[in-house]
Amino acid sequence: MDDTALRSLFDFLRFPSVSTDPARRGSVADCAAWLAQQMREAGLSAEVYPTPGHPVVVGRNKPTPGLPTVLIYGHYDVQPEDPVSEWETPPFEPTVRNGVIFARGATDNKGQIFAHLQGVAATLREHGRLPVNLIMLVEGEEEIGSPNLQAFLQEHRESLGCDVIAVSDTGMVAPGVPTLTYGLRGIAAMELRVKGPSVDLHSGIYGGAVRNPATVVAQLVASLHDSEGRIAVPEFCDGVVPLEDWERQAWAKLPFGDAQLREVTGVPSLAGEPGFTALERIWARPTAEVNGLGGGFQGVGTKTVIPKEAFAKLTFRLVPGQDPERILDLAEAYLRKRCPEGVELELIRGHSGKPYVVDPHSACGKAAQDALRRAFRGRDLALIREGGSIPIINTFKEELGVDTLLLGLALPDCRAHAPNENFPVENFYAGMALNQALLEELARVRF
Ligand code: BES
Ligand code: ZN
Repeated sequence: MDDTALRSLFDFLRFPSVSTDPARRGSVADCAAWLAQQMREAGLSAEVYPTPGHPVVVGRNKPTPGLPTVLIYGHYDVQPEDPVSEWETPPFEPTVRNGVIFARGATDNKGQIFAHLQGVAATLREHGRLPVNLIMLVEGEEEIGSPNLQAFLQEHRESLGCDVIAVSDTGMVAPGVPTLTYGLRGIAAMELRVKGPSVDLHSGIYGGAVRNPATVVAQLVASLHDSEGRIAVPEFCDGVVPLEDWERQAWAKLPFGDAQLREVTGVPSLAGEPGFTALERIWARPTAEVNGLGGGFQGVGTKTVIPKEAFAKLTFRLVPGQDPERILDLAEAYLRKRCPEGVELELIRGHSGKPYVVDPHSACGKAAQDALRRAFRGRDLALIREGGSIPIINTFKEELGVDTLLLGLALPDCRAHAPNENFPVENFYAGMALNQALLEELARVRF
């Protein structure tokens, strides 16, 4: 088999395009320029647009009046590779083991977006034209909350006008099972900093008479849940749209559930809010998670110190019926009320994004289902929501007025954001076939 497409994917994966790391700014820019060139080689016109952050790459075919316009969105930025010592092979040296590509970004999102580009390249080679007008928009800031993309959409609203958006940046419930995602959770980030004494103190000389900031952080973080695992912040879940019966029934039948979740995560038992299955907790219930916790001595051995400050980095995942700003207001009021005297509490709000749901049975949704079935040879299709967030999807709806189809290619054990991220070669080729089928199916939809 001709593996030119695969070798180009490896080149894509070699760029350490870590958007959060200022030291990688040059690599992110190089990656954008390289991607634009790949689009040109595929037969599209392409432009790299600078933003106050990382560039946006936009590719297009020559539009034909009367054809529907499909926008394919993805991201070329990746998460940091830490902890780098836990990688079996270097994160930016793609390596194939047992038919699986290991590299940072292999799944999230370079492998998936590049499968679309290579699908387009293959169609253009075979037929000389695409069945739709295509816009490919690939950004470099998804992993840091797309801080500049909304302004970009506003500025280019006219030229980004489209009938539907397609994204492959979500999961499949099991290998070979075509999966259409019709909902994503929203997100709201907040950092909590507790400041106590003006300097680090000897914990023997002062311990007992001074409030310890690390203890306060622990108390505040622990207060976010009750003893059974429900979020304890008052009104947090008010307005949450309940699951529909068909969703609960369909999810209970999926070839993915508690056993697979235990296996993939390596935990001895699952935990969470009472009254919901694990999939329901992940896909349709909000969470309050600690993403990082720190303060005090982190070195080897012991050190008797009361740290002058401590912190926690929190994110809340949100579901339909919840608004990120309101959730941060509620969390802030709750944490401030519970913070004891003797320390100062600083709350810093981070990125946020609204949840998203779309009807999977619309004409476009059906076209997406047909394309998935074609690409995955007729296997039973799974209709799911997902726990992750792609905040810009809701912004697309608000700014461009268009719905998004989420056709994921990531497997449950893809290790996105973690060491040894991976993507099967097979899924890359399935993604190319999916792109070809999807554009054909969408060309038949009456918009
Ligand atoms: N591809 C993910 C989102 C995702 C993962 C959706 C799994 C569905 C299933 C995306 O790249 C991502 O990681 N998004 C961040 C968004 C955040 C940084 C604003 C996330 O969900 O943490
Ligand atoms: Zn990601």
